[in-house]
Amino acid sequence: MTLNSAEFRKAMGCFATGVTIITVDLDGEVHGMTANAFASVSLDPLLVLVCVDHKTRTHAHLHAKKRFGINVLSEGQRAISEYYARAERTHEHAEEEAGARFDRTRHGTPVLHGSLAFLECRLHSAEVAGDHTIFIAEVEDTVVREGQPLLFFRGKYRKVGEEIEE
Ligand SMILES: Cc1cc2nc3c(=O)[nH]c(=O)nc-3n(C[C@H](O)[C@H](O)[C@H](O)COP(=O)(O)O)c2cc1C
Repeated sequence: MTLNSAEFRKAMGCFATGVTIITVDLDGEVHGMTANAFASVSLDPLLVLVCVDHKTRTHAHLHAKKRFGINVLSEGQRAISEYYARAERTHEHAEEEAGARFDRTRHGTPVLHGSLAFLECRLHSAEVAGDHTIFIAEVEDTVVREGQPLLFFRGKYRKVGEEIEE
């Protein structure tokens, strides 16, 4: 059996995820990238990972800046996910085109308004894995808000469904 990338993506698409925007400060400008290859790694120390394609600009920025934010999107932020997945986009048009506005942490990390959760991350280690790099980061601070998440399942955006009763 020879597996191709389309079949691999189809299988992985069955694993429902949330959607995040990785944010990096670039001398006062916000660079954001949509990512769902995000996971918790360790509780002691507090570590998370995100897998980033070598071809992305974000890949170089994470190596250079070594500090970034993970913003977990809420259900009303689909346009923001689509905006930060586009190859051509600029910091200046993010608010006008997708409604993305940002605050800053004391470290200068951009925090997306209206996201469900924010994690302030400092790079711990990076491991090349095929055409992606696994960036592992220590989480220094978090912000959690009320609301519902934006989900991604089988290539489509979704909302959370009914709770399954016991
Ligand atoms: C729902 C969704 C999830 C994505 N997840 C990832 C991911 O985890 N890692 C990745 O490298 N690219 C991911 N992408 C693709 C990037 O967002 C896209 O290539 C982006 O344009 C890269 O931006 P950059 O070159 O400015 O860094 C995802 C796209 C979408 C729509």
